Order: sequence, then C-alpha cells, then structure tokens
Amino acid sequence: MTEQGFPAAQIDTSRPHPARMYDYYLGGWDNYEVDREAAQRVVDLLPDIIPAARANRDFLGRAVRFLAANGIRQFIDIGTGIPTSPNTHEVAHSISPEIRVAYVDNDPIVATHAGAKLTGSGNTGFFLGDARDPRSILEHPTIGELIDFGRPVGLMLVALLHFVKDEEDPAGIVATLRDALPAGSHLVLSHATADFHASDLPGVYKVYEGATATLNTRSYDQVLALFDGFEILDPGLVQVPAWRPDGDGPTPEEISRVGFYGAVARKL
Ligand SMILES: C[S@@+](CC[C@H](N)C(=O)[O-])C[C@H]1O[C@@H](n2cnc3c(N)ncnc32)[C@H](O)[C@@H]1O
Repeated sequence: MTEQGFPAAQIDTSRPHPARMYDYYLGGWDNYEVDREAAQRVVDLLPDIIPAARANRDFLGRAVRFLAANGIRQFIDIGTGIPTSPNTHEVAHSISPEIRVAYVDNDPIVATHAGAKLTGSGNTGFFLGDARDPRSILEHPTIGELIDFGRPVGLMLVALLHFVKDEEDPAGIVATLRDALPAGSHLVLSHATADFHASDLPGVYKVYEGATATLNTRSYDQVLALFDGFEILDPGLVQVPAWRPDGDGPTPEEISRVGFYGAVARKL
C-alpha cells in the first residue's frame, strides 16, 4: 500500500523545501545545504523555532494517542513531513495495531522515505498529493484501500495550512475534507501564528519567500475559523504545549516560546 520508485532526480535541491527545513529544526539529517542555510537563517531570526517545532511534533503525538485511545481506528495525515519517530502510525499502533493510516504529502522527499519508514508495518499507505486539491486526495486509490468513510476518521492537518495562502482558500480545503467525513470524525489541526513573535516574523517570511511554499501565519481568530463545522474539545484552541500535556506540563515560559496554535475537534 505504498507509492514507490521516485527517482532522486525529482528532488529539487536548488530551493529550500519546508519539509526539509522542518526536519532541520527537529535535528534530522534528511535535508540539503540549501535547506540548512535557509533554516539556520530562520533560527538566527527566531531561535524559538526549535522548541516550537519540537512542541508541535509532540502535540501531534499526544493528539493521535488521545484519538486512538478514544476509538478512532483510521487516520488521514496530510502534510506528513519527513518521517520523525514517533510517526502517526507508530503512536496509533501502540494503542491498536489494526489502526489504518493514509499519509499524504506533496514533497517527493517524503515519498523517498515513506516505503521504509511509513508504510513498512501494514495498515498504512503513502501517496503524493496536494492539500490544495482536496478532492484528488479523497478520490485517490490509496484512500479507497485504507479508509472507510462510513466510520469516524482522524483527519490530521498538523503544521500544514500555514503553507496555504489566503487566496488558495484554507477554510475551503478543510470544508471539502470535513464534508467527506462522517459525524464523530475528528480534526487535529495546528498552525503557525505571529501573535507571539510579531517583530521577528518579517525576516522569517522573507526566508520562506525563497522556498517552495511561503509562510502564512494566522491570528487566533483566523485559526479558530478553520474549525467551522467542528466542536473543539477541551482545552480549546491553545498554544500546542498547553494541549493536554503529559506529566506536570510546560511552564508558562515554555508555552510563551511556541508560536503554534493547536486543537482537536469533533465533527458535528
Ligand atoms: C512543517 S511540516 C509538518 C509535518 C508534520 N505534520 C508535523 O506537524 O510534524 C509541513 C509538511 O506539509 C507539507 N506540505 C506543505 N504544503 C503542502 C501541500 N499543499 N500539500 C501537501 N503537503 C504539503 C510539507 O511538504 C511538509 O512535509
């Protein structure tokens, strides 16, 4: 259940790619000089990007664990990213190995790693797809093989929609995906914001203007609006370290460093 055989020639090393820059923030090695240079410029402007990326990844893991523990048995993870353990299916399978996960990303580098790291364990699949064309994702054969739209789905849009411009209609993308899901499905969404680092962001936007996707941060109310048609679960839309933390949880100082909002919501 995987798409394989992507020639290395499809990997563009002339421009930074957001997936590979995020891998750099997370301390990964699946990035190129052009990505490292761009990502390091971001780190120099906004050192908090490192704890923020880590906190976002940890939010993803806690949200998947929460949904799997509450009976969700199938996930569509759009904007998968370069595999970074624990991946969605690894967290889900620690609760129930029968859980199915369809991974989707538009970056060929994710495809080159998917065979070994995302689809080797059964019940999982990966395909190259673009969130800006949600119908083609819903109609993809891999979705048809893995996802039963008669049963609740966990839809993951984690650190994805800030790579979609206003004119590409992020709310419309979420609505198209939402309308394909049965009631009782859940949305896991996180999104970058400038609400906490406003003065540092203009330089960061400039770096991403040279990348394959621009960065489109959104305010609290703009992110909240993406949950139309969903009921947001406790604790609401919050900076991601504050979403159902493990153990003692983060300090206010740790939360203040993270410019990502996140929430989990149930389709009404
Ligand atoms: C910051 S990473 C997030 C990875 C993972 N979801 C996480 O939160 O840890 C964003 C991912 O979204 C992917 N992406 C960006 N724009 C996309 C689009 N239009 N369609 C599909 N994937 C996209 C990038 O290639 C990258 O892998």
